[in-house]
Amino acid sequence: MTSTTPADNKPKKMPWLKRIAIVLLVTLVGIQFVQPDKNNTDMVMANDISTVVTVPDSVHTLLKTACYDCHSNQTNYPWYTNIQPVGWWLADHIEEGKSHLNFQTFATLKPKPGGRFKTVAALQDHKLEEVRESQADKWMPLESYSFIHGDAKLTDAQRQMIINWVDSARVQLAKL
Ligand code: HEC
Repeated sequence: MTSTTPADNKPKKMPWLKRIAIVLLVTLVGIQFVQPDKNNTDMVMANDISTVVTVPDSVHTLLKTACYDCHSNQTNYPWYTNIQPVGWWLADHIEEGKSHLNFQTFATLKPKPGGRFKTVAALQDHKLEEVRESQADKWMPLESYSFIHGDAKLTDAQRQMIINWVDSARVQLAKL
């Protein structure tokens, strides 16, 4: 860096690293004002999966802790989800997760006309089968989520509890 002499009164250029830092900071502050809508519209359990098949409290608690944040109308928001872009990231997963499976509206599932599943029970059974797979192959909850959301991490024993429950729920469903 050259020192400025009185003759050289051009304003000094800001170093590029500092400029980038300022732009980043302004952006980070700015995006905090764009909060996504919260997914807690509906406390109603009238159409919950527990109204269709028996869900033991121990299993329901596991599902509520590890799955309902993205697969129900009721998300628990830890403080850091108010920080963007974490909140946006979660909102995205919720929208996508709910569209595939919503435990809280399980009773109102409807097969698509002309689709693969002809009856409500067949569709519900298929969803349960997917839940089983998600535990047997350990692809749910999303790893990126259980990484920041420690209590959503499931042990092998807890996954087995969910699998055993799915198996008996499917037997029950077949008899309805
Ligand atoms: C952080 C959000 C999040 C959490 C928590 C989460 N999921 Fe998901 N889930 C998703 C998203 C997003 C999809 C759709 C995209 C995909 O398949 O990866 C999905 C898809 C699924 C599907 C596929 C449904 C279908 O018909 O295609 C099943 C089954 C499922 N999740 C079960 C579970 C179970 C069981 C838990 C809890 C143990 C859980 N998920 C927790 C976000 C989540």
